[in-house]
Amino acid sequence: MRKKVTVVGAGAVGSAAAHWIVSKELADVVLVDVVQGLPQGIALDLAQSGPVEGFDLKIVGANSYEETANSDVILITAGVPRRKDPTTGKFPSRDELVKINQDVVGPITAELAKYSPNSIMIVVTNPLDAMCHVVKEVSGFPRDRVIGQAGALDTARYKTFIAMELGVSVEDVHGIVLGGHGDEMVPLPRHTSVAGIPIRELMPEDKLQAIIERTRKGGGELVGLMGRSAYYAPASASVSMIEAILKDKKRVIASAVYLQGEYGYHDLFIGVPCVLGAKGLERVIIMDLNDEEKAMLEVSAKAVRAVVDVLGYKK
Ligand code: 2OP
Repeated sequence: MRKKVTVVGAGAVGSAAAHWIVSKELADVVLVDVVQGLPQGIALDLAQSGPVEGFDLKIVGANSYEETANSDVILITAGVPRRKDPTTGKFPSRDELVKINQDVVGPITAELAKYSPNSIMIVVTNPLDAMCHVVKEVSGFPRDRVIGQAGALDTARYKTFIAMELGVSVEDVHGIVLGGHGDEMVPLPRHTSVAGIPIRELMPEDKLQAIIERTRKGGGELVGLMGRSAYYAPASASVSMIEAILKDKKRVIASAVYLQGEYGYHDLFIGVPCVLGAKGLERVIIMDLNDEEKAMLEVSAKAVRAVVDVLGYKK
């Protein structure tokens, strides 16, 4: 039987993710959004690309959750993105955004969990790490079935910048970015290579540091350019996680997961290397971080904790 993926939010990230899911022939897709007609229209438009692209998947749009029943994986992209207020010209503060999106993501999660109690939920809505807490709290799912998409995207940005700088294929760049999905995230140059050649043999330190900084601010750079959040890379990063789960690939992808002692953190979602397979989070890989890397992870974890505290959940 074909697998089923629900994508919640028919905005740019949700529709790009649906596009990649069907073009890779991963699963039938249900696209859900509150806007009448929008998910139905996007689903029909995508379905009509089937004869051209050669896929036979079922793609439906819905404004409610009945259609989502028995999904294998659910991608939650719904929420208010970081966008300039047209009247004040200001971006919402982190705390403002966390409360707004808690009120969006919480009720959605309750519906999703009711209709697909055995699903694996992947969270994309920002502030990412805090929204993972909302989904875990509301769904009551075990930690292996609530996973945040952040490291996949942040690592992809890091690799893109390295490939651009060195003029090499992105396929030969290896590396990882840990921590929260914020400006304090932790790219790890000691664990970065091009075809196994340590990055520091290929690039001067100032160039490497500039890439690290650009990676940390990667989301903001795109908001600055487009006046709204990114969508192609966030969607493709999300679909890489969905594919790892549906195909039980055991891929190692940095993901935001609920730490229970790993790396010294308890009851906190932050990005760490994870083995993703049919069960969702199958294993957290413990890296041997040095003092400097641990200190950077601590700064990132503190920033995440400050946002999570705004949610008001009991510890
Ligand atoms: C980003 O970093 C939207 O969180 C996403 O671009």
